[in-house]
Amino acid sequence: MTTTSAAPDRRHTVHAAEAPDGPWWRHAVIYQVYPRSFADSNGDGIGDLPGITARLPHLAELGVDALWLSPFYVSPQADAGYDVADYRDVDPVFGTLSDLDALLDAAHRLGLRVIVDLVPNHTSDQHVWFAAARAAAPGSPERGRYLFREGRGEHGELPPNNWVSMFGGPAWTRVVEADGRPGQWYLHLFDSSQPDLDWSNPQVRDEFEDVLRFWLDRGVDGFRVDVAHGLVKADGLPDWDGTAAMIDGSDPNVHPGPMFDQEGVHEIYRSWRTVLDSYPGDRAMVAEAWVEPVERLARYVRSDEMHQAFNFAFLSAGWDPVALRTVIDRSFAANDAVGAPTTWVMSNHDVVRHASRLGLTDPTHRPNGIGEGDEQPDAELGLRRARAISLLVLALPGSAYLYQGEELGLPEHTALPDELRQDPAYFRTRGAERGRDGCRVPLPWEPGAPAFGFSPTGASWLPQPADWGAFTVEAQRGVDGSTYETYRRALALRREHAMATADLTWRGDDPQVLTLSVGDVLVVANMGDVPVTLPAEAKVLLSSAADMVGSQVPPATTVWARVG
Ligand code: GLC
Ligand code: CA
Repeated sequence: MTTTSAAPDRRHTVHAAEAPDGPWWRHAVIYQVYPRSFADSNGDGIGDLPGITARLPHLAELGVDALWLSPFYVSPQADAGYDVADYRDVDPVFGTLSDLDALLDAAHRLGLRVIVDLVPNHTSDQHVWFAAARAAAPGSPERGRYLFREGRGEHGELPPNNWVSMFGGPAWTRVVEADGRPGQWYLHLFDSSQPDLDWSNPQVRDEFEDVLRFWLDRGVDGFRVDVAHGLVKADGLPDWDGTAAMIDGSDPNVHPGPMFDQEGVHEIYRSWRTVLDSYPGDRAMVAEAWVEPVERLARYVRSDEMHQAFNFAFLSAGWDPVALRTVIDRSFAANDAVGAPTTWVMSNHDVVRHASRLGLTDPTHRPNGIGEGDEQPDAELGLRRARAISLLVLALPGSAYLYQGEELGLPEHTALPDELRQDPAYFRTRGAERGRDGCRVPLPWEPGAPAFGFSPTGASWLPQPADWGAFTVEAQRGVDGSTYETYRRALALRREHAMATADLTWRGDDPQVLTLSVGDVLVVANMGDVPVTLPAEAKVLLSSAADMVGSQVPPATTVWARVG
């Protein structure tokens, strides 16, 4: 068998080291907690805040720096909490405000920062503002907080423009006016239960600055800003013939349309930055902005705007070494130019888990969910690649995001019966998209326990696959080479070697192998199909796979080594 060598042929530094004592968000590993699926304390089958608090030691033991909590606010849960009815209170299904205070307190005592989700693009249709808007007349100030418009056609029977909802179907819904007649239409880029706010209205701006203060006063360390690229729409809401998608990855230079990435959003973030900066400590904001190319995304993290933005171009590169290297280079160039840290992310609650995605025939493909009858991923290959790519993620300087369960190597639930699906995307596309439920299945903690320890009663809002016992935390803790112990060791080494603030230099020029030094750690990610030989002086620190022989890095394996 031929092997290639990871020799330091052509050196090329793409990112310079920075001071290791800068603000936490420049180098943090941030763990996404999806509250409904993390841990259920009261046995109703839905995860809750006391459940999270009780399991915080797991996150401290894993060695992450911070957690991001997906929404726990009062909500009818039409989009799993991304439809907020009251921004200043906790939904009873998740607990109370004092449960949240207790969580913050416990996290801070363990040295963990906490950022919360802010959903400013739309409210729930159960929000008091929307109830008032529905009841009020066309042209009223109540309607002016949302995007109500007259319909087209002779009797206003056609939507005001041709926009399509991100979840499928039209982006407009018609209301019935007080006199019982069909009336105006309101815009919803997502579900019809998620009306878009009008961010040109000063009341909307004031309200959200106040919401920021409410949570900052309670002690949160920052915000993950939902749909950060969507708040401002192009003047006149013009028709658009493109396809709205969070990202389509097909042509990175195509503008995402009149609903996304408008210039006006930046002014909003500048004003929020002023609010955050007026608080003690380092509070941070991260943009969920599906904006391409990375140079365009970097505009969200200019020094007076957000602190970070999710790097979805990296997530979308999949198992493709050339694409990954290109994104890494471009991300550093674009973010370094504005002085912002780069983020790295492979999974979240909106995409097929990477342990499954990377086991598809086309490992760059990102289907919106996988179900019975769809191509089933190769689980073994997917996990092997996922572990390899995660060791690349955790080696890169900057800040990394982990999605709950990836530290267990958890796959997507790829055979969830359709009748159990809850994602509005499944319903609005009439099943053409399976939706996101498969990555949201409750976490397995202990083998043999009811619902694998997720809840005391065994209740679970989505069923866990029967074979998840092997993925539980308990089954992996202390087991050398388990996915959990591999993540834990990686996080410890990352800290020990200050990799997150180190310089990054490419070495070697085999296009199938990403060879880089990050500070004093040599990282070899072999994405080809022949083994790679480490330099003779390399001492292996960590490998993503157990089957290394001598200094040979097998295919689909990442190794961290010490040279010299
Ligand atoms: C974001 C969230 C997603 C949600 C959507 C609408 O993309 O991550 O889960 O459905 O916004 O709020
Ligand atoms: Ca519960």
